[in-house]
Amino acid sequence: MCGIVGYLGNRDCTSVLMDGLEKLEYRGYDSAGIAVFEGREIKTVKTRGKLSAMREKLEREGKPSGHCGIGHTRWATHGEPSDINSHPHSNGRVTIVHNGIIENYAELKEFLTEQGYTFLSQTDSEVVACLLDYYYAERNPLHAITETLKELRGSYALGMIFKDFPDRVYAARRGSPLIVGMGSGEGFIASDIPAFLKYTKEYVLLDDNEIVRLDNDGTRFFDVHGKPVTKDVQTAEWDVEQAQKCGFPHYMLKEIHEQPDVVQKTLDSLVKDGVPDLTGIGLTDDMLRGFQRVYITACGTAMYAGIVAKYAIEKLARVPVAVEIASEFRYMDPIVGEGDLVIVVSQSGETADTKAALELAKSRGAKTLAVVNVKYSAIARLADICINTLAGLEIAVASTKAYSVQIVSLYLLAFRFAYARGIISENELKRLTAQLEKTPETIRSVIEHSDECQFAASQLINTETLFFIGRGFDYALSLEGSLKLKEISYIHSEAYAAGELKHGTISLIEQNIPVITIATQRHVLEKTISNMEEVKARGAYIIALCRKGTTFADGTVDLKLELDFGELDDMLVPLPTVCALQLIAYYSSVLRGNDPDKPRNLAKSVTTE
Ligand code: AGP
Ligand code: GLU
Repeated sequence: MCGIVGYLGNRDCTSVLMDGLEKLEYRGYDSAGIAVFEGREIKTVKTRGKLSAMREKLEREGKPSGHCGIGHTRWATHGEPSDINSHPHSNGRVTIVHNGIIENYAELKEFLTEQGYTFLSQTDSEVVACLLDYYYAERNPLHAITETLKELRGSYALGMIFKDFPDRVYAARRGSPLIVGMGSGEGFIASDIPAFLKYTKEYVLLDDNEIVRLDNDGTRFFDVHGKPVTKDVQTAEWDVEQAQKCGFPHYMLKEIHEQPDVVQKTLDSLVKDGVPDLTGIGLTDDMLRGFQRVYITACGTAMYAGIVAKYAIEKLARVPVAVEIASEFRYMDPIVGEGDLVIVVSQSGETADTKAALELAKSRGAKTLAVVNVKYSAIARLADICINTLAGLEIAVASTKAYSVQIVSLYLLAFRFAYARGIISENELKRLTAQLEKTPETIRSVIEHSDECQFAASQLINTETLFFIGRGFDYALSLEGSLKLKEISYIHSEAYAAGELKHGTISLIEQNIPVITIATQRHVLEKTISNMEEVKARGAYIIALCRKGTTFADGTVDLKLELDFGELDDMLVPLPTVCALQLIAYYSSVLRGNDPDKPRNLAKSVTTE
């Protein structure tokens, strides 16, 4: 959440910072600001609102002209979004941008107030600027930083400039991501690679408790005590095109359309000779045979991918799987330890709760497997074993293609799990894998139903509340469909196991309340149809997503979306079906005049608790 950028080099710093912040917009924010050295003076421009507001302000007040500076997009945690609470924050000698939360800010503020500091904003971040100034007595920035970091509790990525050093940018991190771009004769800091991808593909990952200094002699790294450390330079695999819309009106639509390709890539990376091969990531059949229990823990969409995986692993491998929300898992004192496999699923690999759940599982002796889309992320680096999903850069806040590659990877894991435990034969393993290999094609065919999805969305335009229902895999998918719709259309919706509605929630069904029914699972189709009848009898407007050729009694369904899955196993049908749900959510958002890429109040990667 939020974005940090920093630059030192020969280019126009304001342009580099604004450009970088634009590339980080996907992370979600409510205010923005930059601070740039003009000669020896630091000029700060900041405002509540989007980058367009920032650009207008820069036009009005004049763009700072210089070669060294820092920038920020804020996702408010302490203090409302306002001009004054926007970052950068300064006390005169030190100017900072901060991502994260300083948990002991109240204590520090009290101490600093006693020392004579006054505070302008309501943010937790401002204490960092003051504390740095407090420890800057010797006019040694590195010393001030190491002393300050010792005092901070919570999470942070910090960009810092000191008035006495107009050609230096410092940065440090703990818990929040921060990456250093290594250009030739120039340096960058940023929350994510796209911010500097246009200028350099070479980067260094800053680890927790490390500090970096960009200056004219190059880029140097230090540990928390100020001792120099050597870091590896890596090369990004993404190119600039991935960070662009390529003719689509929104990133989300582009990412929905990328699904056949990214599913194929992920399959190619994990399938060898027609069967899933996980030895490359360090997961052997012996290990799979040994696990007594599986936990899957994650947040949001990644957690819903985990629920699909639970159905698949339990069905095929007959191992108990518990899916827990990461923010609950980490505090619920889970019964987990040696002999258990804990799978964490995360697109960003930076989600604070998921990371904490992973750390807890590790500390209890469980084997940890991360299914992560960002291979340089904290979670990817922390887990014992990592499946690197290949969705590529996902920019839209609402996750689409990352979900699909998560479930593809987890299906492959379920197949291998079942084979390793002797529950399915090699032939069945091959058959299932071949079935999964068909999904890129079926995804393509579902995406061709875009117009029908748009029509379905148009039926929801005046809706204030609706329900998703389904059974089994369809229920797991309902949860994701409902979340997607809520996130970007702002229509209230709830997902229910179709058989559960009558145990209370059916009281909310009245004339014309839409009920989106997912009815693809053939062994429970009749049961699902009965549940559809129950809500129809109470006036619901039913939109049904089903296999081509499914019939319903006259008058049961108001709008039928028939999808052609060919002979795909029911178990794998969530993969193509989710695309229809994503498209319904997308068009509902657009038809309501929202920006689906940047839904209100949301951030792409949630690095706070
Ligand atoms: C997805 O559309 C959401 N924006 C959100 O639920 C997300 O899936 C969740 O925050 C987890 O993120 P992660 O996959 O990066 O860990
Ligand atoms: N906690 C800080 C604030 O509210 C930083 C928030 C962020 O990560 O953008 O200003």
